[in-house]
Amino acid sequence: MKKILVTVGCGYIGAHTILDLIENKFQPVCVDNNSRSTESLLEGIRKITGVTVKNYKVDLCNFDETFAVFQENSDLEGIIHFAAYKAVGESVEKPLMYFENNLTSLINILKCAAEFNVRNFIFSSSCTVYGTPDRIPVTEESPLKPPESPYGATKQMGEEIVRQAAAAHGITSIMLRYFNPVGAHPSGLIGELPVGKPQNLVPAITQTAIGKLPQLVVHGNDYDTRDGSNIRDYIHVSDIAHAHILALQYVMENRNLQRCEVFNLGTGNGITVFEVIRSFEKVTGRKLNYVIGPRRPGDVVAIYANNTLAREVLKWVPQYSLDEMMLTAWKWEVKLKEEESMYNNPNYQMN
Ligand code: UD1
Repeated sequence: MKKILVTVGCGYIGAHTILDLIENKFQPVCVDNNSRSTESLLEGIRKITGVTVKNYKVDLCNFDETFAVFQENSDLEGIIHFAAYKAVGESVEKPLMYFENNLTSLINILKCAAEFNVRNFIFSSSCTVYGTPDRIPVTEESPLKPPESPYGATKQMGEEIVRQAAAAHGITSIMLRYFNPVGAHPSGLIGELPVGKPQNLVPAITQTAIGKLPQLVVHGNDYDTRDGSNIRDYIHVSDIAHAHILALQYVMENRNLQRCEVFNLGTGNGITVFEVIRSFEKVTGRKLNYVIGPRRPGDVVAIYANNTLAREVLKWVPQYSLDEMMLTAWKWEVKLKEEESMYNNPNYQMN
């Protein structure tokens, strides 16, 4: 079995990717200091697959600790690097923390990849690298405009660091530019666990519907779009996860044409905030309590993907509709609520 290192495998996309790696007969090795995640998603993976994944609780900004993981796993055949802070607003308040965390961890991993001859590297990038695009949908050739946030800057710089390191050290790399990952595994056993108040739309919707949040605030309804709200390309997290497996297979089978290639991961459909809300209300039969608030600083008006390259080259075919994204996100939220009530029940006994 080919051994693949997954950084932040306990995170939202990381856990879904670990699951898909196991289903495709890879052996994932997880490195996650759990600063913004918990090992509970690994437990969900165990329930689904029967496989227990070991987590190295290591801070990737610490080079020596990171190096030790590579020493212990000198037979790695690939790396999928997710580790990064990703809250746009927080990055504006704490830019240095974002640059330090996102770039130091990346550099350490690449130094180890070069040192231990790990040839295949998948980098978790984002549509944020396009900034405010002149034309939509964006293709991989669309120019990278100035980033709207320090978070966006770390992704642009991250891509450049990977590109240069790959060229210098003989690493084959793929950058996957995610659009808006949402939803949860259909089993309801793994999903997103936002830290604190969710900043992203879909967890904010599900937490409002379940009663954890009093209401959803729609950030602006006066944009120049078909209903006044922002347009994004929502893509199911399991579809995103599967693209990593396809990308790994692509580079491992030497099908890549260049040392470093980039792929957009979106459905290709631009969806407004109100359309997301309507889909959620339709599939759950619940009325969502929402109000219109001011525009959120840093929000791009509209962006969605041209995903032709990933479809043609990686043979990636997104499977989930918007309704299914909402339904699986809701199933996960309901399951979290049930667990919470169970633990709070005085008659509950741990086995
Ligand atoms: C941004 C980045 C994305 C990054 C993600 C990480 C861009 C274009 N996208 O996604 O690359 O991976 O952050 O967090 O830079 N909304 C509300 N109310 C809410 C929350 C969100 O109306 O409570 C709206 C937002 O204004 C936006 C849409 O929902 O129009 C999606 O927002 P969100 O889920 O936060 O993702 P992005 O900001 O698009």
